[in-house]
Amino acid sequence: MQNNRLDTADLPAHIGIIMDGNGRWAKQRGLPRKYGHREGAKTFRRIVEHCERIGLRYLTVYAFSTENWKRPKDEVDSIMSLLEQYIDEAFARQKEDQDIRTCFIGDMSALSPILQQKIQRIEALGKDRTGLTVNVALNYGGRDELAHAMRAIAGQVQQGKLDPSDIDEQLISAHLYTGGQPDPDLIIRPSGEERLSNFLIWQAAYSEFVFMDVLWPDFTPEDLDRAIEIYRGRSRRFGGV
Ligand code: FPP
Repeated sequence: MQNNRLDTADLPAHIGIIMDGNGRWAKQRGLPRKYGHREGAKTFRRIVEHCERIGLRYLTVYAFSTENWKRPKDEVDSIMSLLEQYIDEAFARQKEDQDIRTCFIGDMSALSPILQQKIQRIEALGKDRTGLTVNVALNYGGRDELAHAMRAIAGQVQQGKLDPSDIDEQLISAHLYTGGQPDPDLIIRPSGEERLSNFLIWQAAYSEFVFMDVLWPDFTPEDLDRAIEIYRGRSRRFGGV
């Protein structure tokens, strides 16, 4: 499908998406929540394709938070299995030379060994790719990410490799899971909720937020284009005038 509508000049470099509303989508249809996640995973694939088509550089999606373990086991298992399926498919496509770099951000140590292995394999495959970078936030929490970075920095101070006066914003950014990547210019949350829910809390300091009423399984490439148009209409001052 050709993208005939969006002017692809002057795109944001990095878009973050909180893929919210899967449960409500399923409930509206009298279906178990896992069906909402299955449709949400399909939407995610369509949005990745669209981002590739328009030439976006970085996309970060919130797939599973550090708090999502509180959900029923059946629901957690179904999300993990959708992720595994996605990685298998993406690995096959990327092996065929699709120019996408897939990265996972979050604490991978709590995941099943097979999922960890698949994640390592797809990250290794894409590490030198220069096209779209897709970050999947999995067992991710912004506060947990900061604690992880602080522990790494404190370790270096303890070993005498760093002086506390060396700790500045750049150093902290470099120790986050997104180290080396630009901060998100635009964060989109569908489903009508208007909060950040521990997503990229450090990186979002100057992001523009677009909240949309559509539930994630119904979110379309045209909705993404619409969010980009709204973003373009904003005046970003970064604290200046
Ligand atoms: C939030 O909606 C969504 C999640 C916690 C899971 C998101 C997972 C996917 C889209 C599928 C797997 C992802 C990939 C990348 C293949 P919610 O369940 O909180 O919805 P609700 O607020 O309506 O209950």
